[in-house]
Amino acid sequence: MNTKIFIPRSIQTEGIENHTEKWRSPSNIALVKYWGKVGHQIPANPSISFTLKNSYTETQIEFIKKDVSNGEIEFELFFEGDKNESFSKKVALYFDNIKVYTPYTKEYKMIIHTTNSFPHSSGIASSASGFSALSVCLVAFEKVINSNLVERVANQKASFLARLGSGSACRSIEGPVMIWGEHDNYRLSSNQVAVVPDLELNPIFDNFQDTILLVDKGVKSVSSTIGHGLMKNHPFAEQRFKQANNHIAEMKTVLENGDLKRFGEILESEALTLHAMMMTSTPYYILMKANTVQALEAVKEFRIKTGKNLFFTLDAGANVHLLYPKSEAKEILAFIEKELVAYCENQQYICDELGTGAKKVI
Ligand code: DP6
Repeated sequence: MNTKIFIPRSIQTEGIENHTEKWRSPSNIALVKYWGKVGHQIPANPSISFTLKNSYTETQIEFIKKDVSNGEIEFELFFEGDKNESFSKKVALYFDNIKVYTPYTKEYKMIIHTTNSFPHSSGIASSASGFSALSVCLVAFEKVINSNLVERVANQKASFLARLGSGSACRSIEGPVMIWGEHDNYRLSSNQVAVVPDLELNPIFDNFQDTILLVDKGVKSVSSTIGHGLMKNHPFAEQRFKQANNHIAEMKTVLENGDLKRFGEILESEALTLHAMMMTSTPYYILMKANTVQALEAVKEFRIKTGKNLFFTLDAGANVHLLYPKSEAKEILAFIEKELVAYCENQQYICDELGTGAKKVI
């Protein structure tokens, strides 16, 4: 993909003094994980994810035309109503990184208000939903001032910009399934943007559930960005990237034929491999807590005992994502309530399910 297509050529800001965009963008959960990058935000292996629905960031940007453009990017950022220094720093860096593709950010002062639907300190990473929400606001504004920006390219551009903020964010723009990273079995797959894969999703995955056990609501001991870096010179890196590519190929078949047993095997292998990579890097990190391990064991035992299709996955943290079909929700939720809440901080968990991506808020 030639990323020059994302550099706008015909911006028309005359007469547009004040414009507001407000969008909601969800989080996503990777089935096959992105862990390791090359160059600037290019994944070392392709990843595939389910887009979520209830865990989202809502972002509003008010664009106020400057009298004279001073060539600077100016913005004020409010997170949950308050000015937020650390988030502002990240966003300043992001705006600077993407300015070639968003030259209009220099012509307007931006007032940004952003909130998350999930509790502030829940240990749930907000970078995927956060950067995707920011990106869709920018691209939606660009549509107003650039009549050449057609819908298909607009979605790609939102994913492209989101990726430059945080890799996994590029998979939040659409749904319910997104692939990011080149793979021969997926037409149009790209390292630059995430796309909806060319597959016929088996109806067994309709409204598929993701219940997130909040095992540890603290800040993660290592950021994803540092974690990705540890894959450089990792003794098992090459083997891991090969495995991810094989899993991506097989996942396509599984998502089409609805073989939940194999779906679960790949899902859980991906989660445990991700953590194994972190445990075997230098320095190493153990991101699971004792309660994480207990929950994983309880899930496996429940599955063997009942034959229910309940599977786990993990991000680079201690919280547990439980994936299962909607049709089995009643029994599985009863099990979560009876046994798994004991492993959650303050017995808290979040009920989510498959979603379709970013939406405009009226
Ligand atoms: C374990 O997208 O947070 O969640 O690109 O450095 O911002 P950066 O990393 P990030 O990494 C996510 C890693 C993961 C797996 C995944 O979502 O694929």
